[in-house]
Amino acid sequence: MAREKVLVTSALPYANGNIHLGHLSGAYLPADIYVRYKRLNGDDVVYVCGSDEHGVPITVTADKEKITPKEVVDKFHEANKKAFQNFGMTFDVYSRTSIPVHHSTAQEFFKCFYDQGLLVEKKSMQFFDEKVNKFLPDRYVEGTCPKCGNEEARSDECEKCGSLYDPTELKNPKSKMTGETPVWKETSHWYFPLGKFQERLEKYVNEMDANYKWKDNVLQYCRGWFNEVLKDRAITRDLDWGVKVPLEDVQNKVLYVWFEAVLGYISAAKELSELRGEPELWKKYWQDKYTKYIAFIGKDNVVFHTIIFPAILMAWNDANETKYCLPQNVPANEFLNFEGKKFSKSRGWGIDVREFLELFPADTLRYTLGANLPEGKDTDFFWKEFQSRTNGELADILGNFVNRTFTFAHKHFEGKVPLRGTLAKIDEDILEYLKEVPVKAAELIERYKIKDAIFEMMNLARAGNKYFNDSEPWKSSKTNKEQCASTINICLNIIYTLAEIFEPVIPFTSAKIFDMLNAKPTQWLNSGKTNLVEGNILNEPQILFAKLEDKIIEEQINKLPQVIDLAATEAVEEITIDEFKRVKLKVGKIIAAENVKKSDRLLKLQIDLGTEKRQLVAGIAKSYNPEDLIGKKILMVANLKPAKLFGIESQGMVLALDTHEEGKVRLIEIDEAIELGKTAK
Ligand code: 2FM
Ligand code: ZN
Repeated sequence: MAREKVLVTSALPYANGNIHLGHLSGAYLPADIYVRYKRLNGDDVVYVCGSDEHGVPITVTADKEKITPKEVVDKFHEANKKAFQNFGMTFDVYSRTSIPVHHSTAQEFFKCFYDQGLLVEKKSMQFFDEKVNKFLPDRYVEGTCPKCGNEEARSDECEKCGSLYDPTELKNPKSKMTGETPVWKETSHWYFPLGKFQERLEKYVNEMDANYKWKDNVLQYCRGWFNEVLKDRAITRDLDWGVKVPLEDVQNKVLYVWFEAVLGYISAAKELSELRGEPELWKKYWQDKYTKYIAFIGKDNVVFHTIIFPAILMAWNDANETKYCLPQNVPANEFLNFEGKKFSKSRGWGIDVREFLELFPADTLRYTLGANLPEGKDTDFFWKEFQSRTNGELADILGNFVNRTFTFAHKHFEGKVPLRGTLAKIDEDILEYLKEVPVKAAELIERYKIKDAIFEMMNLARAGNKYFNDSEPWKSSKTNKEQCASTINICLNIIYTLAEIFEPVIPFTSAKIFDMLNAKPTQWLNSGKTNLVEGNILNEPQILFAKLEDKIIEEQINKLPQVIDLAATEAVEEITIDEFKRVKLKVGKIIAAENVKKSDRLLKLQIDLGTEKRQLVAGIAKSYNPEDLIGKKILMVANLKPAKLFGIESQGMVLALDTHEEGKVRLIEIDEAIELGKTAK
């Protein structure tokens, strides 16, 4: 296969907090595995990343910690760079968006669009907090989402339903700086006319999918966007932290962080060129139409990489001789949760990478996360799973196979690779399989099915152990030394291939195995073959993976904040069956739902019980959007004394379960087939 020129980027993480395991599973580990594989495959790869240092998340952290935004980014840039390094990430450069070359790059794009008259200047009313005399950035205003009713929506983006909208559409806004209702004040901003690119963007996504197969989750998201007319998007903000708007007589305005952050991928490559003393290097990747550009991200970043960034690049390409390449694929991952819940710094839920690597080797984490990547759906990190993957797979399967083979070779073949003699069927079969595994794993990695590729890799180690057992070298060493030599030769060659194909996943271990084999890594294409030189002197075996004792894992589990389950700790008062029978539980259907004014907790529901209708007031507004409830069949207490809540009569109560998320509940839903009005017994 021809050598490919590959440009790989991972989302630039905000330099306002530590990288945690969820970040790794989303956009970093899969990219690093892909990149390492491509390099082993002989492809010409450049992999860039860096800190996203502007935007409101940074100023929010600075305000909270009472330090300057610069202090925030300096601290976290270094910390994250180090954590990534210890995790074995192989970025060619870990850049940052505060460097001058990034500012000039972003400003150059803005100027290019401005000069050609592409940008639309609009006067608008902006939230302004009179108490602090400042325009309020998006993140400093919270309110109710105009699309789904989420009351904790940001001013231009709802995390719950994924909508982006104009801040004027936000309902019931509040300043997060002071809690005041902000006033509207006139300001002017420049807008990027996304709509002008809509047709080309749709064509681009469809073509890329047709040629390179995009992931379903990514496509669905894009199509959702294309169902609506793409609107102009403001690309400037009233802020003092960021890349200054490069226009004379414009003060106190910066480029919108997402507009410039995506361009950070280009400036990172420019920094790499500078570091390597090859000023033109970045152009060889960014400005070559044959470049295969793959952008690894988490699912929350899809629109910026499949719509906004491509549109920016199209706009540049329209106006310039130099043309940038657009992402060929955007293999976005879903999220990794931690022990069943979202990572939450404020609630102390989760563990960050630095902390983790102080306790456990990077490869055990790389393997556990890799074997459980959220490629198709959200997955979880569980400490118990980490233990079982380390002990049951890395140590018992891979480690054991390597160790027993080396021990045997040292004991019976003077620590050398023995000669392979005439082969029996069992040998031919395993050699055939050995050839297939790297091909299969490569195909899977090329399709971003990294989890499945890792499964195939471990299966080769499994097969190695089985082959060792079935060949019984401990017997043949006494009865048929030639046969025994063949077995150990083949086992060592399997180990050689394992070291090669596992390199992208567990690079530190792979290096140890190469060292034990006293052999150099070759290209991926050569793996699966019997490449080890016969007679090659082997080094002493090392233990590759230490087993994790229960005690160590339990210590970690015990460190997690304990969720106090009130239901479990309350003394339960006994009731008689007759008392229970007095409660009438009935099946009903929600036919209407709306928010209760002035309450962020209550919804007014209309319930159809088949023979009658009821009105209920339920404390479920934090858990459900009214429109999502319509049609749901639920269980309700039908003989509860009516009560008034916020002046509204409630004629019963819906049954819901506590979840571990604060203030959230889940309705007990009833199967569609059950008739309305049925009573529970
Ligand atoms: O979600 C985030 O952490 C963003 N900082 C990602 C930016 S990706 C790209 F635009 F740089
Ligand atoms: Zn919403």
